[in-house]
Amino acid sequence: METIRPARIEDAERIAAAERATVSADEGLLAARPHEVSVEGHRRRIERAETEGLYIVAEADGDLRGHLILEPIGYESLAHVVQLTIVVHPGCRGQGLGRRLMNHAIAWGRRSERIERIELRVRSTNPRAVRLYESLGFEHEGRMRNRIRLSDRYADDLCMALWVGGAAEAGGADRT
Ligand SMILES: CC(C)(COP(=O)(O)OP(=O)(O)OC[C@H]1O[C@@H](n2cnc3c(N)ncnc32)[C@H](O)[C@@H]1OP(=O)(O)O)[C@@H](O)C(=O)NCCC(=O)NCCS
Repeated sequence: METIRPARIEDAERIAAAERATVSADEGLLAARPHEVSVEGHRRRIERAETEGLYIVAEADGDLRGHLILEPIGYESLAHVVQLTIVVHPGCRGQGLGRRLMNHAIAWGRRSERIERIELRVRSTNPRAVRLYESLGFEHEGRMRNRIRLSDRYADDLCMALWVGGAAEAGGADRT
């Protein structure tokens, strides 16, 4: 049976291994290179999520199958914003888990009294992820051209966001 639960410190090693495998197999999915994915980095993010943000994993039959992080940015003016990272682990993709993790995170965001906006950047080389976000209501907000350097070319980063706040979106630099 599959469970979606908060990540624990002891998950960090398996999470880092799954991320390294993901970026080793396809450099167009995540920004980090394999040597830049660290167990310590995930431990810190899991610890931080105990008080701010969200860090969840999907587990089935004792195996971790995916993880999702909603991280705060650290400024008071951005306290209503979290940044999304999601990785469904190799061998577990295309079975609805990404959508289940996303639905869980969006429901958490809607329940939160502080969080109103979930934002992300996704490589233009990752159509599966783009389609998933679009289908959940994330809107395209911009394109950062040639932001990601791959081994033989550049990829763009697409900026997407979902408003999960209760009130109507106020935003816009030229509006108050
Ligand atoms: C992107 C990712 C999170 C999607 O999760 P998943 O479990 O594979 O996807 P799901 O099975 O939940 O499918 C969700 C949607 O993705 C899209 N999708 C799934 N498989 C696809 C494929 N082979 N080709 C194109 N789109 C696909 C579809 O829109 C699908 O919606 P549907 O179920 O209504 O058809 C997952 O593939 C992943 O972690 N990839 C590697 C890391 C990564 O790219 N992370 C995102 C970085 S921004």
